[in-house]
Amino acid sequence: MNPLVAPSVLASDFANLQREIEMLNASEADWIHVDVMDGRFVPNISFGMPVVKAIKKHARKPLDVHLMIVEPDRYLQDFKEAGADSLTVHWEACPHLHRTVQTIHELGCRAGVALNPHTPVDGLEWILPDLDLVLVMSVNPGFGGQAFIDASYRKIARLRELIQRVGSRAVIEVDGGVSPDNASRLVEVGVDVLVAGSVVFKAHDPQATIATLKQAGRK
Ligand code: DX5
Ligand code: ZN
Repeated sequence: MNPLVAPSVLASDFANLQREIEMLNASEADWIHVDVMDGRFVPNISFGMPVVKAIKKHARKPLDVHLMIVEPDRYLQDFKEAGADSLTVHWEACPHLHRTVQTIHELGCRAGVALNPHTPVDGLEWILPDLDLVLVMSVNPGFGGQAFIDASYRKIARLRELIQRVGSRAVIEVDGGVSPDNASRLVEVGVDVLVAGSVVFKAHDPQATIATLKQAGRK
């Protein structure tokens, strides 16, 4: 099975966002990954609802919104209204994660939970049956263009086992430092969705890079 590919617009040219989204529409990308950062959960600020809305206006693929923000419950409805198809919140930012996931589902979005590199996968056991997606951060969240953390391979393999054991439908998404060099190994250990920012948007031919990622894991 080919992985899904979700290019992260964080690395795109914001002054030409419409052109960048049209490039993704015409590519083999499956989802458009949208990184929201608040300067509190992570040490960087990206953009908020108005930009998500602007992306939605041109996107012909689902918006995969990754909320790197504290108290995400306060903004779930706003992001849904801005055009999110899936909403991923951070495990570390949600004391009442079950309720947060319920709210995301009530809004009609796919619900995802993201784990920082140090966060164990075992903490997901009781919420996994309710999730559509688990996002494994393979860099510390906050910035594009960082080096992939090698421990992520074992972590993903462990998560794959846990998902099977509890019988969850959740797909595994990996985010941070993903490139054609590590994509096949990631798919082999259990990844379903590859997020890639800088490797796509800094490429000479972004659509060709997306096509290469799409072939990851195929023998
Ligand atoms: C990082 C973001 C990522 C980022 C990935 O905090 O969650 O989605 O855009 O960028 P690359 O692929 O450059 O590591
Ligand atoms: Zn992300």
